[in-house]
Order: sequence, then structure tokens, then C-alpha cells
Amino acid sequence: MEAILLVGGQGTRLRPLTISTPKPLLPTAGVAFLAHQLARAHAAGVERIVFATSYRAEMFEAAFGPRAHGVDLVYVSESQPLGTGGAIRNAARALTCGPDDPVLILNGDILSGHDMRAQVKVHESAGAAVTLHLTEVDDPTRFGCVPTDGAGRVTAFLEKTSHPVTNQINAGCYVFRRSAIDTIAEDEVVSVERETFPALISSGAVVMGHVESGYWLDVGTPEAFVRGSCDLVLGKIDSPAMPGGPGERLTLAGSTVSPGAVVRGGTTVGRGAVVEAGATVIGSVLLDDAFVAEGATVRDSVLSRGARVGPGAVLDGVILGDGAVVGPGNELCCGLRVWPGIELPPTAVRFSTDA
Ligand code: GDD
Ligand code: MG
Repeated sequence: MEAILLVGGQGTRLRPLTISTPKPLLPTAGVAFLAHQLARAHAAGVERIVFATSYRAEMFEAAFGPRAHGVDLVYVSESQPLGTGGAIRNAARALTCGPDDPVLILNGDILSGHDMRAQVKVHESAGAAVTLHLTEVDDPTRFGCVPTDGAGRVTAFLEKTSHPVTNQINAGCYVFRRSAIDTIAEDEVVSVERETFPALISSGAVVMGHVESGYWLDVGTPEAFVRGSCDLVLGKIDSPAMPGGPGERLTLAGSTVSPGAVVRGGTTVGRGAVVEAGATVIGSVLLDDAFVAEGATVRDSVLSRGARVGPGAVLDGVILGDGAVVGPGNELCCGLRVWPGIELPPTAVRFSTDA
């Protein structure tokens, strides 16, 4: 089977991590995020994947080349972003399958344990034009809200509505009949969620939902990115691309963790990264050459390449850009983002939580 991988978004919600690296290439549990998706697609029987690229397009071919994780790879770039539907139509030029064959379409920022083969079976037995993987979330307003009837047929598609009619949402993995892709306008900006799906439903085409509520995460926000990386390390979701077995931490070759440091909760310690004695790092992502000094505490945070946390500093839910420096004694929390190269000077004032 062939697939199209949508990887052209700018990943704005993940800035500053995505200033230098597109979201799908961010190191996640020791490998590029997409490695997990490629390996899972291969396990589900996908043999060839067309990358639909736009933002920093050249970096994808440089990262994966013509074949990776058992899958042949082809790269199709948009000169200007065509939206999700336009990107699918544009990438379909590189498909080799026939008009009735199923094509898997994957959003490039999803960690999912769902059974893609079962989704294809639902698609084929219903003779559907499109079959969507659907899952349930607490807050459907940030996603595509997708009600279905008793037979599993999709009755509406409401993208990011403030009035959701169900908690069932579009999980970002579709099976399209090849000929249904050809109904999308060529060389135009089209949203598959706001235009293609509603048009197919109102034209009477069979659009099915494959409901499966196992592990599922869109890693498009800083909190979700950290959680996804830690869940992979902890083994909460299996990935054939993991560079090590499940455990409390993943320490990559060339990293140094002092025996006097506490590192757990699914933390990854990148190549050349250092955690000194007396430091505590919990549920975090330390990219290559990051540094955590003695007595510092880092929780639910990302330290980008070469970022440094000084002695006694405390980070909780923070993103440090490449080479950012947090001087000794600072306490940062609650979604704060420090841009690449910024240096926060040492602070003499120490706050006590039991004051
Ligand atoms: N090639 C290309 N060109 N890819 C694009 C473009 C484009 O113009 N715009 C977005 N993409 C890619 C992104 O890189 C990402 O992999 C995917 O399309 C979805 O874009 P996001 O920006 O991550 O969308 P979202 O998370 O807000 O919403 C989508 O995913 C939800 C599930 O996580 C929608 O499909 C929702 O309906 C869905 O619920
Ligand atoms: Mg997303």
C-alpha cells in the first residue's frame, strides 16, 4: 500500500523548537519524530510513502533519503503551502496505484497506537470513498468534530467548532480511495477538513469512521511534545523505531549522567548532554549538548541543543531554545519559552515555596 505524509506545516505552536527544525523532524525519544510514524506504517503494510513538504522541504530528504524503516520514500514539495487538501492532491501526482486502490494519508504530528489494517478493512468492506480514524478527547474544540450514525457512517465534519456535537474527533489518519483524491482541485489552496470532507459528505459519498480509542496524541503543542517523547521512553506506546528498551530514562551515546543525579519519568538525555550531581530531571527532553548543572531541577521541559541550566535553577514546563542559558538561581515555570541564544543572568534572590 502507498501513503501520503503531510509534513508541510510551520509548527508555530512549537516555536522556538521549530525555528530551525520542522515539527516532524524534532528529536523525540532519541530519533526524528517521523521515524516512529514510518516504522508504524511499515508494520501496517505500507511500502511506499510520498512526503508532502513545504516548510523547510529540503530537510526531509536530507534526514531520510530514498528509503528508511523499510519504506521507499518520495518527496513532493509545494512552492507555496497548499493547505492539507491541496497538499494531498499535489502529492498524489507521485502515487503509482490504480483509481480504486486505498491510499493512507497521515498527519505528520500524530503518535497513534491504532490498528491501521483494521481501518483499511472497514474502508474496503464499506466500499467507502474515505474512512477516517476517529478517537475521543475531553476537549473536541481544538480538533475536527466528527459525528457518525449507527452504521459508522460520518454525518458531518466540523473543524475546530466552538459548539461540538460529540467528543469524537478526527485523529488525522485517513484511507482515501485514490479516485476520491482526484476530486480535489489541482494547484489550489484547499483544506481537507473545511472543504473536502464536508463536500464529500453533502454529495452523498460514503465517508466512514473507524473508531478506536487506544493511545493517541497530537504532538503539536509543547506540553504534548514532551508528553509524547516521555510516553515513548516509558513504553506507554510501542514504536519499532525506539533506540532503546522502555524505562525511566533514555540516555543516548555520549551523554553523561552523574550517579548523584536523579533522571526519570521518561526523560531523554541527548548526545553530549550532561546532568551533574545533585540535579533532578523529570519527564523532560534534553537535546544534544544540553547541560543541567548541580542542584538544578528540570521538570516537564525541553532543553534544545546546547541549552544550559545553571546551578540551583528550577524549570517547570519550560522550553529553552538552542543555546539559551538560564543563570543560577532562576525559577521559571508555566509554559515560559526562552528564545535561542538568550541568556538570563544569575539571580541573587531565592524564593522559598514554604515562605
Ligand atoms: N504539505 C503541507 N502543506 N502540509 C500541511 C499544510 C500545507 O499547507 N498545512 C498543514 N500541513 C500538515 C501539518 O504539517 C500537519 O502534519 C498536518 O498537515 C495537520 O496540520 P496541523 O497544523 O497539525 O493541524 P491541527 O493539528 O490543528 O488539526 C488537524 O489535526 C487534528 C488531529 O490532530 C486537523 O486534521 C483536525 O481535524 C484533526 O482533529
Ligand atoms: Mg496537529
